[in-house]
Amino acid sequence: MEFKNVINNLLTKRSADDLIATSKKSELKKTLNVFDLIVIGMGAVVGTGIFTIIGSAIQGGPEGVGAGPAIIISMVLAAIACVFSALCYSEIAAMIPVAGSAYTYTYATMGEFMAWMVGWVLMLEYAIGNITVASAWTGYLVQFLKGFKHLLPDFIINFPMWLRNDYRFMFSFCDKYGLDPHTQMPYLFDKIPVAINLPAIFIVLILTMLLIKGVKESTRVASIMVGINMFMILSFICVGAFYVKPENWTPFAPNGFEGIFMGAFIIFFAYIGFDAISTTAEETENPQRDLPIAIIGTLVLCTILYVLVALVLTGTVPLNHIDTQAPIAHAMRMINKNWFAGLISIGALCALTSVLLIYQLGTTRILYAMSRDRFLPKSLRLIHRKYRTPHVLTWISGIVVIICSLFMDLSISAELCNFGTFTSFIIICIAVLILRKTEPDRPRPFKVPFTPLFPILGILTCGGLMIYSMKFLTTSSLYFPLWLVMGLLIYVTYGYHQKRLEEKIRLSRSARTKTISRL
Ligand code: ALA
Repeated sequence: MEFKNVINNLLTKRSADDLIATSKKSELKKTLNVFDLIVIGMGAVVGTGIFTIIGSAIQGGPEGVGAGPAIIISMVLAAIACVFSALCYSEIAAMIPVAGSAYTYTYATMGEFMAWMVGWVLMLEYAIGNITVASAWTGYLVQFLKGFKHLLPDFIINFPMWLRNDYRFMFSFCDKYGLDPHTQMPYLFDKIPVAINLPAIFIVLILTMLLIKGVKESTRVASIMVGINMFMILSFICVGAFYVKPENWTPFAPNGFEGIFMGAFIIFFAYIGFDAISTTAEETENPQRDLPIAIIGTLVLCTILYVLVALVLTGTVPLNHIDTQAPIAHAMRMINKNWFAGLISIGALCALTSVLLIYQLGTTRILYAMSRDRFLPKSLRLIHRKYRTPHVLTWISGIVVIICSLFMDLSISAELCNFGTFTSFIIICIAVLILRKTEPDRPRPFKVPFTPLFPILGILTCGGLMIYSMKFLTTSSLYFPLWLVMGLLIYVTYGYHQKRLEEKIRLSRSARTKTISRL
């Protein structure tokens, strides 16, 4: 009996009407239109993936082979995996326009336990993903400063490595070049090595303050950043196109299908972000109409842009010379356009800044929804009196990224982010199938065509890529289940009890109301 009760509790759902009613009481301001949403989408999507990670997707890394020029096929594969999920996101976001994205949708379809786990997994996408982007930001800042070597003093251009890297990197760097770590880093009390990624901390702090000031202000900054980085990417395509040598495209797929699939898994990072649009549903003026347009529009625009960038990159630089740290800027150096390489670094910095901004926005909005549902303490969702933004959560998410960026590796955080996102995409596809059965009559301003085929294809493509890559990416495939276990423990020790407490309070309130009405 007791066991049955627990199972029932785990499967307790929130009805879509209840979710919508709660969101109507939201204190968040409704200021975003379709243009703002596409800016949020492009700002969240175009970033580290196309400016940095594309290099390793083409070349390969320590735990997997690269796609070579066949990265174009990998990109299309990754985009296909995204399209099915994007359609599913659109259907649900338009039907239940509330904050919290996949987390909220899971609550309406699969119950309390799965909802918490999905929220927890989404933190891999948003918060851990931000660590990747913050580390890449520092890399491009260094590239950018190098462009001014004749204008700026040397201590700015070549500021100490221990002030721009985490201590793990410093140790592996010393190991690689046979250096004594004591000569490369200061030591506290002669025992504790000190190495901090200062630029990453700086940018995260600035963006945290901006986000507290207001979501509209933040998207305004994001739209300027998106404008600059779009201009740089388009210029790269136009300038680079004149230097393409078709012979660089052979061999087209040096590592065959393995390279293409691993490339698709890695470059998937470049597509992550369109779902951030749905996290702002409660702040959108006309969510039913605008969310689907923005989600699908963003995905189509990005795919076209990425394929063109990949064609130019692999066409201008011979395969073995493609850089893995700043491949786009490096490609311009290869054709003797050094000044343009500097400009590309500015575009990359803008792109990475807007990704950081939007991911932090997404993190806080999902945590806000989870705290509203009592999975997290109430004190976390305090709204700032003047700016009406969840300032406590915004600070927490900023501080978590800062702390983790002190020691987390860029590629591991990117892979974990991919695992988290694939999982949430699969859940969204399942949610569409469930809602079609449980709520067939609820108005759907947007419907996924060819259901159930499209959602099933979404599950198969995302699941297939994830399982395939797990064979090779041994480190992150170990961390991913550990993250899930951590989430499970938090739920068992905190969330589950809070939810039962909430139920008890609700029951005693309704009993009191009945008694009063009888009297
Ligand atoms: N798609 C985002 C990026 O590439 C995560 O930075």
